[in-house]
Amino acid sequence: MKSAMAAVVLAAGKGTRMKSARSKVLHQICGQPLLRYPLQAAGQAGFTQLRVVVGHQAEEVKQAFAGAEVEWVEQTEQLGTGHALLCAVESLKGFQGTLLLLCGDVPLLRAETLQQLQQYHAQQQAAVTVLTADMPNPTGYGRIIRDGEQILRIVEEKDADVEQKQISEINTGTYLFDAEFVFQALKNLNTDNAQGEYLLTDVIAAAVADGKKTRAICVSDPTEVMGINDRCQLAEAEALMRWRINTELMRSGVTMIDPTTVYVDATVEIGADTVLQPNVQLRGITKIGPNCLVDTGVVVLDSTVAAGSHLKAGSVIEESEIGPDCNIGPMAHLRPGTELAGKNKIGNFVETKKARLAEGSQSSHLTYIGDAEVGRNVNFGCGTITCNYDGVKKHKTTIEDDVFIGSDVQLVAPVTVGRNSLIAAGTTVTKNVPADSLAISRTEQRNVEGWALRKKPKKS
Ligand code: UD1
Ligand code: CA
Repeated sequence: MKSAMAAVVLAAGKGTRMKSARSKVLHQICGQPLLRYPLQAAGQAGFTQLRVVVGHQAEEVKQAFAGAEVEWVEQTEQLGTGHALLCAVESLKGFQGTLLLLCGDVPLLRAETLQQLQQYHAQQQAAVTVLTADMPNPTGYGRIIRDGEQILRIVEEKDADVEQKQISEINTGTYLFDAEFVFQALKNLNTDNAQGEYLLTDVIAAAVADGKKTRAICVSDPTEVMGINDRCQLAEAEALMRWRINTELMRSGVTMIDPTTVYVDATVEIGADTVLQPNVQLRGITKIGPNCLVDTGVVVLDSTVAAGSHLKAGSVIEESEIGPDCNIGPMAHLRPGTELAGKNKIGNFVETKKARLAEGSQSSHLTYIGDAEVGRNVNFGCGTITCNYDGVKKHKTTIEDDVFIGSDVQLVAPVTVGRNSLIAAGTTVTKNVPADSLAISRTEQRNVEGWALRKKPKKS
């Protein structure tokens, strides 16, 4: 293997304190599993050869990351962090250069921090460089024992004496290694410690014994290195990540009336001069164009919204494409497969599904449009229903350009309405309608005069 920068991410642990049937690294913050974040940070910092050590729920983890450019390594028994890295050595056979080690449950670490670590490591020509943090309460972490710049060793909480426990500089679990050195050192690890595990941290003392340089840099923002062990920390990390995402969006020109209540996944893009009202959720692979207005209570999932569109209060939009200058809602439900070309209006209590509307078509209220192909400038009257399901199969409704549909119309699919036709209010359309026609299917009105007078008088 050519010399380059490789990274190993440890993710085999069980995560007991999550009290979950699911692997810890599959729990999400801002719409992405925890493990996604260290992989991204490593990639962005130039560590392109990625290995992930999995154990608990290995299959589920691999499945969740199907298609990701990583190589998976299995650690069937969790014998400690040193053993975990040792498991990855085989897959890095012949690798020379800089090896980054990250934990899968530390999602807030920034790529820039890894780059700083990398620069310092290279400049110092160290065998190991540890990313450390100064913690007001260091309990539980490995403590850094220094002699000036040189790190003598790392002492785990369980092995630390009273004096060592006072040390506030802790090991974040992020390291850069000279690969050749660490591969050799891992082979000599033993389990002579309070935990009876192969501790990766013991390679520091091994480097010192070998006369090699060991270095550390202390991260300036300790929240970056917080590990997720339970659901409280999960929520804490979510809030920090959310704030990062919102800050970045506001800096790029998005207005948020109250950013503390705006929930935007890490995978969402938003154009400049778009305004987000309070209590908005934008999730999944979603793109909102510039100059949009998103009102309170709107939920958008895996959808695209083009420039200048207005999403009104309480609307839910899933797997849909909304063209420019559309007006959606309030209380509209766009279900998967809705495609609006532009200048469309989908008003209150309108539901759409697998429906393509060409430019300018509108449905202002109380309508269901499903499995439909709709031309330009079609008007749906209030209460129009495409009857797309016969109890066994779904059928398609085709409505050509410039059709006007009156109120309370049922279109029993499969059916086609030709261009420029008019469907009278109250009509049940069961046959195709030719172009330029009027379709009407209602019984003629009969007035029974005096009928009300013959009824028993109402008690007043
Ligand atoms: C480790 C460090 C400690 C540091 C702390 C930071 C060691 C010995 N100690 O302690 O100095 O302060 O992280 O959070 O490394 N894992 C495996 N296989 C294993 C064991 C662990 O994949 O056999 C993974 C876990 O899933 C986790 C990571 O390694 O992602 C860290 O393991 P954990 O048991 O949490 O280490 P700590 O005891 O917290
Ligand atoms: Ca831990």
